[in-house]
Amino acid sequence: MKTSKVTIHTLKAMKERGDRITVLTAYDATFARLLDEAGADVLLVGDSLGMVIQGNDTTLPVTVEDMIYHCRAVARGARRAQIVGDMPFMSYQASIEQGLINAGRLMKEGGCHAVKLEGGAQHAELVRRLVGAGIPVMGHIGLTPQSFHQMGGFKVQGRESGGRERLLDDARALEQAGAYAIVLEGIPSEIASDITAALSIPTIGIGAGVGCDGQVLVIYDLLGMDDSFKPRFVRRYEQLGTRIRTAVQSYVDDVRSGAFPSEAESFALEPERKAAAAADTPVYSTGGKRG
Ligand code: KIV
Repeated sequence: MKTSKVTIHTLKAMKERGDRITVLTAYDATFARLLDEAGADVLLVGDSLGMVIQGNDTTLPVTVEDMIYHCRAVARGARRAQIVGDMPFMSYQASIEQGLINAGRLMKEGGCHAVKLEGGAQHAELVRRLVGAGIPVMGHIGLTPQSFHQMGGFKVQGRESGGRERLLDDARALEQAGAYAIVLEGIPSEIASDITAALSIPTIGIGAGVGCDGQVLVIYDLLGMDDSFKPRFVRRYEQLGTRIRTAVQSYVDDVRSGAFPSEAESFALEPERKAAAAADTPVYSTGGKRG
């Protein structure tokens, strides 16, 4: 079946029709293929990879090179989904030129279809220049993890007096600058619904309630890879951390006891071909996908 690729126009039309948009993070080709086949509209190569892949406490150490590496892998795995690459910390904050160059690298070298950057009105001019250069931009306001130290931790944003107006102003500034969608992270549901109603571009929520045009989750959280991490806004659809540990424990036991590999999982020489067989028995077929 031929399915058309998701573009910024697809997402706008989805908002207009009231169809909810599904976004998930992806960091490699195998996950990208699975999430794409399962129907995710957008694959976000989030700088959350700094935490879930690299094991850092924050997203701050992630580099442009890291992002390009993972974006390229995701681009190889996906067919239909739009691929959005996160602009990492300090890849766009120092100057507009720096932002243009690094966003261009995510598109040219990483194979992304769009970039995402954190922050509101203060980045409106950069967004305008990126869009002018043909680079679609997804905004990201509310809890912006790159400002971890400025925010004093991963905290819900917008509850203070004037918080609703500040977030609305940021969202409007991004829309006016040409952003095609905005992630709303860690803000009260009422504010997220107000922003969604005020904009003609889609909002994608994470910890922002059901009133957004779409939702995003970190795929490792959705799959329950880390049993010690269960913030309120995450719904776990699997307990893969537990299941992976159980599967690997079985493997370890089987290797130790000699139950793996069995004869059926091993190769034997046929008595009459002892000399020739080793040379022409393929160990496995790659189907042209590896190597
Ligand atoms: O880096 C990331 O994964 C993100 C999403 C959680 C929105 O920015």
